[in-house]
Amino acid sequence: MSKLYISGRKRLSGDVTVQGAKNSALPVLAASVLAEGESVIYRCPLLSDTEASLRILRWLGCRAQRSGGTVLVNNGGLKRFDIPDGLMRQTRGSIVFLGAVLAAAGRVRLSLPGGCEIGLRPIDMHLEALRRLGAVIKERHGRLDCRAPHGLKGADITLPFPSVGATENVMLAACTANGTTTVTNAAKEPEICDLADYLNRCGARIKGAGGSVIVIDGVRRLHGCAHALIPDRITAATLISCAAVTGSEITLKGVIHSHLTAVVSAFEDAGCVFSAHENELTVIAPERLSSMKIVRTMPYPGFPTDAQAPLLAAASVADGTTVFIENIFENRYRHTAGLARMGADIKTEGKLAVVEGVPRLYGAPVEATDLRGAAALVTAALCAEGKTELEGVKYLERGYEGFEQVLSSLGADIAKV
Ligand code: UD1
Repeated sequence: MSKLYISGRKRLSGDVTVQGAKNSALPVLAASVLAEGESVIYRCPLLSDTEASLRILRWLGCRAQRSGGTVLVNNGGLKRFDIPDGLMRQTRGSIVFLGAVLAAAGRVRLSLPGGCEIGLRPIDMHLEALRRLGAVIKERHGRLDCRAPHGLKGADITLPFPSVGATENVMLAACTANGTTTVTNAAKEPEICDLADYLNRCGARIKGAGGSVIVIDGVRRLHGCAHALIPDRITAATLISCAAVTGSEITLKGVIHSHLTAVVSAFEDAGCVFSAHENELTVIAPERLSSMKIVRTMPYPGFPTDAQAPLLAAASVADGTTVFIENIFENRYRHTAGLARMGADIKTEGKLAVVEGVPRLYGAPVEATDLRGAAALVTAALCAEGKTELEGVKYLERGYEGFEQVLSSLGADIAKV
């Protein structure tokens, strides 16, 4: 089991190209089961989560291979429609194979996915939406058996909440359904647009992605295509947090500014200054951060729940009090225990966290329990006095590609042992 050792208080400098988006890679890889022939996915980050998706593709009968950041999927027709428990449990993102395999094979059998323990994470909206498209779903002991005895048929679906995964599952199931599907109250995250772009390149007819109403005209079949994933806005937000807590100036390359509006505005509030040129973003952090206005996590374009943990780490060394309201997941303050060990002053109750900035954090042995929580502990360790020993590195590796190398290249004193 590897650990990260981080000696804090080193200033960061230089530039770094932001990896491709994990949350685009997972649905796009699942979508490739619908596209006959070859799909080439560029900028696919090398993560335990994306590797788990490749294993599922191979199990289903596709050829899937990686060369650097490029993944080649060769789909000559699925050989199976079941996904074993062991493969499903490796990543939460595997739930999008539900809609994709159902549409591709007319049937899918899988177990509920694994992933980070950040809340209940039910999939009732996914199942209800697929039923509206004509799926018959049996659930027993955490296994789902899902068929479309009369084929999938377009329908009007209104989601009770703009769930990212449910929106993706509907898009995947509907793009080769018979007729038109309208999804109202759809998620608007950039990763939804990325999935729609990939599917449309494969021959799908999806309109309105990025807005709250998505219209999908079913087509008979999809073919493979070449597609470059969007940059990972959460990795960008995490790197901004790392610069912010160390009073550093760094440049992020290959970002899409409009995806980062809410994140940039929170860090501006904390005293950071940004300059943007084409697809580059430079952050210049002050010696000492200021507290921020209330941070409320919201569906896109609101402040992303995935960036809450690293921002909270930054708030813990800001002057004054910052209040966080976590509106998306019920159990997303688990990183605060580790931060408290490092000297942070944080009180949480339900959705609320009140962070009283302290003058300094101190290195300590800490353990990550989820992906973004791990990122928060790394952020805190970078500005802490002394050495931090971080366990639970496997969580970090779900979402950040070679993060210790990225941080080392910027001047951090960090080593994986
Ligand atoms: C995706 C992202 C995750 C991000 C989240 C919110 C991927 C692989 N993961 O997760 O990183 O934090 O969006 O931006 O893209 N819900 C239900 N019933 C459902 C579906 C969701 O109650 O059927 C609830 C969830 O428990 C949660 C909220 O809705 O409280 C939002 O979840 P959702 O948008 O579906 O997140 P994910 O797709 O799981």
